[in-house]
Amino acid sequence: MKILTVVGARPQFIKLAPLSKILRENGVNEIIVHTGQHYDENMNDLFFKELEIPEPDYNLGIGSGNHGEQTGKMLIEIEKIILKENPDLVIVYGDTNSTLAGALAASKLHIKLAHVEAGLRSFNKRMPEEINRVLTDHVSDILFCPTQTAVENLKNEGITKGVYLVGDVMFDALLHFSKISDMKSNILERLNIKPKEYYLATIHRAENTDDHERLKNILTAFSKMNEIVVFPIHPRTRKMINYYGLGDLLENDNIKLIDPVGYLDMLKLEKNAKSILTDSGGVQKEAFWLKVPCITLRDETEWIETVNLGWNRLVGSDVEKIVEAVRDLKFGVDVSFENDFSAKKMYEILLELKDKLD
Ligand code: UD1
Ligand code: UDP
Repeated sequence: MKILTVVGARPQFIKLAPLSKILRENGVNEIIVHTGQHYDENMNDLFFKELEIPEPDYNLGIGSGNHGEQTGKMLIEIEKIILKENPDLVIVYGDTNSTLAGALAASKLHIKLAHVEAGLRSFNKRMPEEINRVLTDHVSDILFCPTQTAVENLKNEGITKGVYLVGDVMFDALLHFSKISDMKSNILERLNIKPKEYYLATIHRAENTDDHERLKNILTAFSKMNEIVVFPIHPRTRKMINYYGLGDLLENDNIKLIDPVGYLDMLKLEKNAKSILTDSGGVQKEAFWLKVPCITLRDETEWIETVNLGWNRLVGSDVEKIVEAVRDLKFGVDVSFENDFSAKKMYEILLELKDKLD
């Protein structure tokens, strides 16, 4: 079985690590194509080093751009590689422009397509990720769903064939790398902070970064919290803070503005935070698994289970609601999480389908 995997953005490197490992261990020929969507050292190279993922076989170096331009350039280049490599299966992850480009290239060439993290919906078509997910799911042959909600979402859109509930590959990654993070990360010492005495914040969603009012409100809330806020800042967010001239709001001794950190440092920061404020999909889930209350700076979430079990609160970008949520932290139901062995399940399914794929 020859597999061609397409990745390009930070969360995709994390999702790739557990499945790629198991494929390699079992002698599967996996060709990794990196679109180059993320390219800064600490958004890219650092993850390949820490997560023990082999160097990509191809790096397309597409970089940043408008949606059409970025996705289109990726599509052109991925198509060439698929034609050259002729894989049995293409695997795409999550919901970025790299996901959609890989999905379109494979499906138009009639190559079987597997989507890892299928079926997620925010039901907000203004999110670029929602368009990417819906389109990718509708051309996928194998849909690996992380939750029962995702399976139901697909069913509601008429997709029932090729759907597998396999659990969450990000949980596999967390279980494996959390131990390594405990041993290796000294981020708390480097930042001179103590466990459970700080808040962790991340923002990068277009709906927050590209909206002056929302971005201003969120940063105002951080400055009003009167708590230590560790804020590893996504390059997109840094760019937009400069563009809107909002930097003054961060000139506050309590706000520790740092560059994006590697996964091992991030897990350490998440685990030891009093609470996490975020608009990230992955970070919401990690907070949930680590039993750290999450305050989500969005109006809706794809990870509704985290809200239903009381670990996550949706506060949007309202200053008062954010500050109120920080004052009144809510801990959810004390659930224990079973290891999903998601990567193993996906590999076993691919093996079963092997004859149909070759
Ligand atoms: C992308 C995904 C988003 C995902 C996120 C993970 C899309 C539409 N969005 O958002 O779903 O949650 O990745 O982090 O695919 N930049 C740099 N250096 C980098 C990467 C980006 O400076 O290494 C800056 C550039 O100014 C760029 C901007 O960030 O224009 C946005 O990058 P882009 O890849 O388009 O989207 P993200 O916001 O990173
Ligand atoms: N992450 C990281 N360093 C950071 C911020 C996030 O390693 O500075 C990790 C985080 O732990 C999670 C993933 O990146 O595993 C989430 O990616 P991101 O927030 O960029 O995208 P999303 O999940 O929203 O698509």
